[in-house]
Amino acid sequence: MPLQKKSKITISDILNKKKNKEKITMLTSYDYSISRICNETDLDMVLIGDSAATVMMGYDSTRKIGMAEMVTFCKGVVNAITRQVIVADMPFGSYQTGKSISVKNALKFLRCGCDAVKLEGGLEVVDIIKNMTDLGIPVMGHIGLKPQTTPLHYGYVSQGKTAEGAIRLLNEARALEEAGVFSIVLEKVTSEVASVIAENTNVPIIGIGCGPHVDGQVLVIHDMLGLYTDFEPKFVKRYLDLSKQIFDAIKEYETEVKSGKFPQEEHMYHMTEEEFAKLEKMLKRV
Ligand code: KIV
Repeated sequence: MPLQKKSKITISDILNKKKNKEKITMLTSYDYSISRICNETDLDMVLIGDSAATVMMGYDSTRKIGMAEMVTFCKGVVNAITRQVIVADMPFGSYQTGKSISVKNALKFLRCGCDAVKLEGGLEVVDIIKNMTDLGIPVMGHIGLKPQTTPLHYGYVSQGKTAEGAIRLLNEARALEEAGVFSIVLEKVTSEVASVIAENTNVPIIGIGCGPHVDGQVLVIHDMLGLYTDFEPKFVKRYLDLSKQIFDAIKEYETEVKSGKFPQEEHMYHMTEEEFAKLEKMLKRV
């Protein structure tokens, strides 16, 4: 893979894409190895999502991940990414309790090399977001389905099914825009309402499960690579069946080790014949 030489994408590039009607692309990434591959592509943004809770840690809810784990994931990603805008998700509990703690936690992500932070929530977090953007912290909003505050037993249902619900979402998007966010993730909102929100805001609306009439798309990378076979939401397109490919490779390795087919000559190191003869003599003495 060629080493990435293209210049860093900036937040103003992201804003310009909306003006120029160019689609914005974002995927989640949580570690160095996958991020190195992302860095070689023309993706615009990489999100260290709090979906790390489920896809990387195996927790049953994004509420269970904290600052320390998120910062560790960020460190791996920032060591690989030179190209994309890097956005870190602020985990549940890291910003809701006040302006000062939210700034302190956001700075931990910026100091480790992230370009921006993402906060879930609408009107209930507008003041916290405004305070952050006033202080110069780039913030991405996140409305629609908000997994951090949706109890598991409610189920992750789609949003914006009524006209009143649509107006509520539009008002939230506008309030976030006024609070200074540079873009908004819109999750699992009906395609009609997502389109209305994208048309009636100036900041890019990045959809997940919102149809095509928004300014960009984001997916959890594990979903689009097919790393989990037991989770297949309607809005995900699987571009690979990676879980099967990894399983098959591990089985092949297992079989080859057991049968002696691996390792072969090309995988070995050797001493010189002379040194080996010397060793044999020494072994006799021992
Ligand atoms: O945590 C995450 O992966 C997200 C995406 C669903 C946008 O917030």
